[in-house]
Amino acid sequence: MNIETIDTTVDFLKGKGFLSPEIGIVLGTGLGQLVSHINIEAEINYSDIPNFPVSTVEFHSGKLLFGTIENKKVVVMQGRFHLYEGYTLQEITFPIRVLNGLGITKLFISNAAGAINLNYKKGDLMLLDDHINLQGGSPLAFATVADFGDRFTDMCAPYDEDLNAKILAVAKENTITLHKGVYAAVVGPQLETRAEYRYLKVIGADAVGMSTVPEVIVANHLSLPVIAVSVLTDECDPDNLKPVNIPEIIAIAGKAEPKMITLFKTLIQKLD
Ligand code: HPA
Repeated sequence: MNIETIDTTVDFLKGKGFLSPEIGIVLGTGLGQLVSHINIEAEINYSDIPNFPVSTVEFHSGKLLFGTIENKKVVVMQGRFHLYEGYTLQEITFPIRVLNGLGITKLFISNAAGAINLNYKKGDLMLLDDHINLQGGSPLAFATVADFGDRFTDMCAPYDEDLNAKILAVAKENTITLHKGVYAAVVGPQLETRAEYRYLKVIGADAVGMSTVPEVIVANHLSLPVIAVSVLTDECDPDNLKPVNIPEIIAIAGKAEPKMITLFKTLIQKLD
């Protein structure tokens, strides 16, 4: 990775009208419909963006959008890259470096996750307060990383405390349950065994998923304030584990979507 590669992509996007976005948003499972709330001014398929990771078949619909929500300029990743699709951690996080190059000053991320903390129920939302990286690597482990920021990036407060306080206040005002917790990131794509769920609980995870942590590490590397919210789609009880039901997971994420949209939209509205 080098700075010229990022600059080429940033300049290309500026030429397509991606000018001065304030907020970057990564739409995971459970936030896709936020797109219908954006006044879209420019959009481009990932496959047409120079230096973006080469799309897998599953990734046909990946798009970068630019527009306004609540009078704020946003750049939105509709679809993200996962480690389990075969990308490297540097490829997965390249778009975050590009959004930063476009000038965003805040990054919002959503994802779907399994509830390890059994006081949290399926359909609930959880604000990430901290995380555990179990993906077996770092997006910062490359030779020229020091050209972009500190190699030994501090992670004592990985999620922005001010934005976290604001989104918790928004949740309260709108009577939306928003738990706070620790997200453990695994590679996937297989789900966890009973023994792995017990292990995740012992080490202090409240939720488990297959994304987000690489992007958050890179945001910290860039000193870019970041927040992330999980839709909890299944309850990971090792003593009552049933085979995973992916259509049910997607249905639960869909049902929680209006709550997630209210949180993000109201937060954007309240930012000065
Ligand atoms: N494990 C990992 N990722 C997930 C899960 C899970 O139980 N549920 C949704 N994403």
